[in-house]
Amino acid sequence: MRRKLIAGNWKMHGTQEFIREYVDALMPNHITLTENRDVVVIPPFPYLSYLNSLFEQTNLSIGAQNVSSELAGAFTGEVSAEMLKDAGCDYVLVGHSERRTLFNESNELVAKKLLVAKSAGLTPILCVGETLEQRVQGITEATISNQIQAVIELGGDTALEDTMLAYEPVWAIGTGQTATPEQAQNVHEFIRNRLEGLSKSLSERIIMLYGGSVKASNAAELMSMPDIDGALVGGASLKAEDFIQICETTG
Ligand code: PGA
Repeated sequence: MRRKLIAGNWKMHGTQEFIREYVDALMPNHITLTENRDVVVIPPFPYLSYLNSLFEQTNLSIGAQNVSSELAGAFTGEVSAEMLKDAGCDYVLVGHSERRTLFNESNELVAKKLLVAKSAGLTPILCVGETLEQRVQGITEATISNQIQAVIELGGDTALEDTMLAYEPVWAIGTGQTATPEQAQNVHEFIRNRLEGLSKSLSERIIMLYGGSVKASNAAELMSMPDIDGALVGGASLKAEDFIQICETTG
């Protein structure tokens, strides 16, 4: 039985005041929230340590939105995996579609980031997904397969051990247009079958989130699908009440 995980990706939003209010709203629920599932909040870099200090004495976790593919050195503006671990992160997103499309991150770079994150003891959440154009062309599976293959090529057959996946159709991110539970399930099932070729045990164990316009009103239905183990929530994670509701309707 895979444990559910709900992740809230704040993207480039938040202030210290916002965080104080958010955490105040989460606190009364923090025990029940993390009883049956893992909950991770993913703020921008400058707020990681602060959020981590506010989450002390809770089972709530923090994660980062990005990580350098380099270990350390003269890379102005970059943040290393070791620094993220040191700041209290357990998780890090790699290959979010906004990084892939707006910052030209290639499958190969994403693969490098995943391996560096793992080596620092972080759990990478590898984001994969197709654009609307790719879906219309009928190359959803090929696109996702290539995104996964790049990681296996660089890291070998065990590269995806101790990682998580997030299927995020690009056309569903921030658009209000969620994939139907069946559409999401089909892709999750495809990925699990694809991983079975590497390791049956890995394909059964790996936690796979769905992301793309998840809200309180659609979370339960999505999470009820057999191969969907949680959610990567963007916009709706910015309202503590909505995020709590999404967590509570899950698992
Ligand atoms: P959204 O974002 O929930 O606002 O669609 C999801 C994501 O980008 O991870």
